[in-house]
Amino acid sequence: MTSSSDANRVIIFDTTLRDGEQSPGASMTLEEKLEVATLLDQMGVDVIEAGFPIASNGDFEAVSEIAKRVRNATIAGLARAGNKDIDRAGEAVRHAAKPRIHTFLSTSPVHMKYKLQMEPERVLELVVSSVTRARNLVPDVEWSAEDGTRTEMDFLCRCVEAAIKAGATTINIPDTVGYTVPEEYRALFRTVRERVPNSDKAIFSVHCHNDLGLAVANTLAGVEGGARQIECTINGIGERAGNAALEEVVMALKTRADIMPYHCGIDPTMLMRASKLVSAVSSFPVQYNKAIVGRNAFAHESGIHQDGMLKNTQTYEIMTPESVGVLKTSLVMGKHSGRHAFREKLKELGYELGENALEDAFKRFKDLADRKKHVYDEDIEALADDEIDNADDHIKLVSLTIVAGTQGPQLATMTLDVEGQHKTVQASGTGPVDACFKAIHAIIPHEAKLELYQVHAVTEGTDAQAEVSVRISDAEGRVVNARAADPDTLVASTRSYLAALNKLHSRAARMGGVAVRIHSTSPLGGV
Ligand code: KIV
Ligand code: ZN
Repeated sequence: MTSSSDANRVIIFDTTLRDGEQSPGASMTLEEKLEVATLLDQMGVDVIEAGFPIASNGDFEAVSEIAKRVRNATIAGLARAGNKDIDRAGEAVRHAAKPRIHTFLSTSPVHMKYKLQMEPERVLELVVSSVTRARNLVPDVEWSAEDGTRTEMDFLCRCVEAAIKAGATTINIPDTVGYTVPEEYRALFRTVRERVPNSDKAIFSVHCHNDLGLAVANTLAGVEGGARQIECTINGIGERAGNAALEEVVMALKTRADIMPYHCGIDPTMLMRASKLVSAVSSFPVQYNKAIVGRNAFAHESGIHQDGMLKNTQTYEIMTPESVGVLKTSLVMGKHSGRHAFREKLKELGYELGENALEDAFKRFKDLADRKKHVYDEDIEALADDEIDNADDHIKLVSLTIVAGTQGPQLATMTLDVEGQHKTVQASGTGPVDACFKAIHAIIPHEAKLELYQVHAVTEGTDAQAEVSVRISDAEGRVVNARAADPDTLVASTRSYLAALNKLHSRAARMGGVAVRIHSTSPLGGV
């Protein structure tokens, strides 16, 4: 095995909260972003790109809260080349232990001509002025040549040299449109590093999009070409086809250290947890056959493979599930397990709930253990996630009775606790889920639109808990995701919709608006 040295230490720059959040529909609440940032920090991410502060007040607030809370990782805020963008990013990362401004400008002919409508010489001037301004605010400045892989080499080298001279400490050459191929990207970094006279004064960075399914391959090639920072996202979420997936890059480097002698500071045993968290808060399901973190990534179905695995796991496994934090699905506890054992199990799974949330989660666990034959780790995780999501609810489900089946109409009789007051309605719908959502509407009239409704089974078997994710949006463009789990799909559906309404209500209240009127005037009784 080739030995690793510090010259081969690769910086992991995670942009789940910025490029990842730019995926249509993947927007996260402030609390969710803080939860993700905390986990990224714990798992050893070197740089967290927390958002694009000029984009909205919500983005600014998220970057600045993350900057205040996270103590290990560098916190980056994204900025275009304008003064306002850069100042806003500087303000947002001001309280970080290690602040970074990441400023970018397009350098390809097509972007300069049509998007910027600027001559190359003007672009070059802006590179210098933007980096200089950022350097006056923070000592750590990253400059990106947007659409770098479609930029003419001479001009790219001039821009990179100018940016380094103006004080950029990291130079990122993104494959913005996912166009390059590994050999070309490797050569690009080699050429730029050779031709730019001051290239040794900066760290070079790769940032790859997955339009041709080559993001991870290109990323690794860029590192071979001399880049020592990798920009990536959990589960590969991001614009269009997404970005290079952090878990895939990290495990490729680790598993093939024999031919790629690079190392990073990520604790790979936290990869699965990070994947689940990001999937849950963004409501982006992880495809079953996704490398590293997909449900089937370590499943062996065919007889020949199973036989080989029983003889020696190395026959079909190039890394162990435990090495990426896949816990063996274990039968955890039954209905006789006590509070202490439950708390310990949560700790083992990486959850620290406050006393009230713990008590609620414990009650729900007992209830689950009464109803379900086997309670697995995944069930406990779903329960804990649910508790974290639904901690400060103004609206809670008290009871639900459904009439469903071939003889319509499907009916939902529902009682909600709305800030301490019980309200009951009966509603009919096209199917039981529709009836449930109509009943909620009758008690809490609101304008929010359902954007996504998704169900998946937490474990196997017909008694598995259903985890339901919903995404709703309001007229002001606020979007929230929420999820809930229960062995009854209709209860999970109702609770996830309520969780989303609660979130929308809290978010609107924080921003001084009203998205969901909690105090409804609708009559109690039948609809
Ligand atoms: O893909 C891209 O070019 C980007 C830049 C802002 C770095 O995300
Ligand atoms: Zn990008």
